[in-house]
Amino acid sequence: MGEKICDTEEAEVRQRMAAMPEPLLAWYASARRELPWRISPSPYRVWISEIMLQQTRIEVVRGYYERFLAAFPDVNALADAEETRVLKLWEGLGYYSRARNLMRAARVCRDEYGGDLPKTYEELRALPGIGSYTAGAIGSIALGLSVPAVDGNVFRVVMRYLADDSDISRASVRRCTEERIRAVLPPGQAGVFNQAIMELGETVCVPGGRPLCASCPLAASCLAREQGNPEAYPVRPVKKARAVEEKTILVISCGNRYAIHRRPEEGLLAGMYELPWLPGKKSRAEMEEWMAEKAGDGELMDLPEARHIFSHIEWHMTGWRIALDEEIPGEWFFEEAETIRREYPLPTAFRAYAAHIQ
Ligand code: ADE
Repeated sequence: MGEKICDTEEAEVRQRMAAMPEPLLAWYASARRELPWRISPSPYRVWISEIMLQQTRIEVVRGYYERFLAAFPDVNALADAEETRVLKLWEGLGYYSRARNLMRAARVCRDEYGGDLPKTYEELRALPGIGSYTAGAIGSIALGLSVPAVDGNVFRVVMRYLADDSDISRASVRRCTEERIRAVLPPGQAGVFNQAIMELGETVCVPGGRPLCASCPLAASCLAREQGNPEAYPVRPVKKARAVEEKTILVISCGNRYAIHRRPEEGLLAGMYELPWLPGKKSRAEMEEWMAEKAGDGELMDLPEARHIFSHIEWHMTGWRIALDEEIPGEWFFEEAETIRREYPLPTAFRAYAAHIQ
């Protein structure tokens, strides 16, 4: 892997980068998609969209975005909201710490910035959940600041364009890419440029498979294209295999009421609700023993296996449906099926088993 870290100064890189803005902006003028957050892009609207778009596809975000904005139209509405309601509107989007950080940041904006987002890159960057990418996106798109916004799409475009094999997981490579972009941001059009390069990454210079070089406005000056190997970039280190956790998920009911439990305030899926579960994969005999000790009399039915993949771990689940004769108190509490569906945020990880709550 190349050890060169940042060669913004090198004449060839400078020249190639300088050739980027004009064809890119011309392409974007006609290829630009109409997206809800591009309508009156206030800092608040752009912020919510950029946080939702991290790790999540545009088509999925659309519906969530409209519902979220309708429920929390501004910073103060979000700052004053109940956490469970915010998480419920985030249910299914995953990476729930994003929603909790949004609330924390909204409270800072309410208390310290009079209910607006701050107006400088540094102050934006200091808010919970806002890194250099998000601060750059809000700053350039909504505040007219001349700052770069380097996300995975932008990385891919730039590393291919320069045929740069530096390891993009390194912070120094991110900073270098930001500097390369900063050097060519067209005056007064940083927001347009940043959206254009992201859009190119999402729709043309696509990840996996073959990028659509035949429709790329930058093809004439792209070094990886010239070398015939755009898929070789960007270079990232081989990921460690995910850890596997075995779990036994329990769908415990008594009549129309089901047992749920709030997860701890810290860690994976913090503050979300869940079905009760036991570590490991429990057999019928083990479940019968567990019931005798913890839950009392009832009917026990096995449920199919399911898996859920998070970024760093996988849950391999098996499930048991337990219909109790009486509500037995435990670490869980009972609620009606309809109330659970309407009010309690249950992560997608439990979907296969939550389907039995009815
Ligand atoms: N992906 C994430 N944010 C985006 C934006 N502002 N424009 C285009 N694609 C995006």
